[in-house]
Amino acid sequence: MRLSARATALEPSATMAVATKAKELKRSGKPVISFGAGEPDFTSPPAVMEAAKAAMDRKETHYTPGAGIPELREEVCRYYRERFGLTYEPAQVLIGAGAKPLVYEAFACLLDPGDEVVVFAPAWVSYVEQIRLCGGREVVVDTAETDFIPRLEDVRKALSPRTAGLLINTPCNPTGVLYDADLLRGLARIAEERDLWILFDEIYERFTYGEARHENIVALVPEAADRTLLVNGVSKTFAMTGWRVGYALGPKTLLAKMGAVQGHFTSNACSISQWASVGALKEADDDVEAMRRAFRKRRDLMVERLSAMPYIHFVQPQGAFYVFVDIRACLGTSYRGKLLDSDLAFCNSLLDAEYVATVPGSPFLAPGHLRLSYANSAEEIDEGMKRLYRFLNNLEA
Ligand SMILES: Cc1ncc(COP(=O)(O)O)c(C=O)c1O
Repeated sequence: MRLSARATALEPSATMAVATKAKELKRSGKPVISFGAGEPDFTSPPAVMEAAKAAMDRKETHYTPGAGIPELREEVCRYYRERFGLTYEPAQVLIGAGAKPLVYEAFACLLDPGDEVVVFAPAWVSYVEQIRLCGGREVVVDTAETDFIPRLEDVRKALSPRTAGLLINTPCNPTGVLYDADLLRGLARIAEERDLWILFDEIYERFTYGEARHENIVALVPEAADRTLLVNGVSKTFAMTGWRVGYALGPKTLLAKMGAVQGHFTSNACSISQWASVGALKEADDDVEAMRRAFRKRRDLMVERLSAMPYIHFVQPQGAFYVFVDIRACLGTSYRGKLLDSDLAFCNSLLDAEYVATVPGSPFLAPGHLRLSYANSAEEIDEGMKRLYRFLNNLEA
């Protein structure tokens, strides 16, 4: 069967590919430790389960309004009011089957063929594929040499008459860095000067550690509200990845169009999951704080272990649940006679030899890096770090 050029050009999700290989090894009885997961290892909080059960008992099994049940849209408005002091009305909120389809729907509504989007690399794997699927083109601003923080002069250099928007993700997957208030104000200023939209993905906003604070760009620069789409969801915050609920907030006209795309695409997000999300937003705040504390401890443990390892470097992550490790000094070495000439080769050898699963940096637009997720128990982190240390010590120059 002949596939379209669009489908042929599409790369499958690399994060999922590694997870699949690790799961296969685990199924065959191998003692796999996975640092590949892009999700909390916690179970969804009790309030989520209760709200879902109650929805089933009420037989909430039908299509819901395409944009989401009013109760959830109102709850998202309340959350944004209390968390960020922002006023959105339900007509400015779209509930999707995860944040992922919402980002796609946004590109579908914001990009004409050939339009350019400024993307900061390293970047979450789906952005570029989605931009391309929607006929746009990514213009990459590399931050690997500036501790993963973009410089405004580099952003300006990346602009062209075709630039349509800026894509901002803080706390960042895969680097765990946070963008501070000055940087976000600077980016908002550029967007205003050049009349660009901003897609602001803050799906990890609740997971920050130590001194670092998450800043919402619209709370900082209220004038940016008319050009900004906020993207968030329950997946990470409430350990609800499997339920598939995300939300987007922004200008009414954009949200209405995104709702129309969604109407032809997924229709509403799962009815039971939407009710479960109401339960999460209403009652699971303490559970979120408990998870945040656990992640902070695990981050500290992983960072401490990694600091003692040869060859590798990393920027101390302040948010999300990832450490993004620079392994460029390992490239060109061999492991048991196998040349490690890329991050992918490194990941595969580490998985095959030590049963430690990680994600290569290349699909995040950062070759020569690895993403390690610490959404894992302290015991697993401890054991996994021992194996990584052994692996690094057995590299042959
Ligand atoms: C930066 C970022 N945005 C959005 C998403 C999508 O999350 P979901 O579709 O589960 O809501 C993810 C998931 O990994 C992510 O890392």
